[in-house]
Amino acid sequence: MSAIRYPSYKNLDPYLDTARLAALDDYVRARLERRLARDRDLSFYTGPFLLDAAQPSLPGSRMVALSRSREPEDYYDLDRTDLWEPTEEAQEFAGLMDFIATLPFAATGRIIIMYDNSGRAVSAHRDHDSTDLCHEFIWFRTSFAKPFYMLNPGTGEKLYVRSHAAWFDTVNQYHGADASHGLAFSIRVDGRFTDEFRRQIPFPTENAAAAPSLWAQA
Ligand SMILES: [Fe+2]
Repeated sequence: MSAIRYPSYKNLDPYLDTARLAALDDYVRARLERRLARDRDLSFYTGPFLLDAAQPSLPGSRMVALSRSREPEDYYDLDRTDLWEPTEEAQEFAGLMDFIATLPFAATGRIIIMYDNSGRAVSAHRDHDSTDLCHEFIWFRTSFAKPFYMLNPGTGEKLYVRSHAAWFDTVNQYHGADASHGLAFSIRVDGRFTDEFRRQIPFPTENAAAAPSLWAQA
């Protein structure tokens, strides 16, 4: 485990169609602006695992759920793909859902868009504290408007994500976003990767949550 370097992330751009993704920028933006005008969406919660407890856990960003679990909300269900079904919003964002269908998932669970109209920072946080739990997800964005980073809590070193798409260790390091101008958004899809995709991943024998970071340095 000590061999794994942080901050780090796995660039997933080679595994998806980045041109098609970038072409969705206006499409997603227009729909989010429409939702903002109607003040439709819930606040995005970072979870309790903040780097600095004085920072807000409700930093002001909002969230659109494109899938919903049939069971009461439980963070540890986000990859139980059998529980999740598309929401009404999935129809509103059908073009984005079509793109998501091209990603290397055998099945998908939680699908969310996180967005913020006023460019507020997202406090550095971890998503959970179970090192034995490796969530298979793809985080991605249509543009580079949101300065999104990984952070090593031991050294304070930040690494900005330079790619459209990434998979990253959400447990052994922190992640967050700097303030930016205008509407910024990103999408996260959780699920079960295809076997073909999984075969390329060097899953660690312990500290399963570190798989993306191990892969990043392979
Ligand atoms: Fe997070």
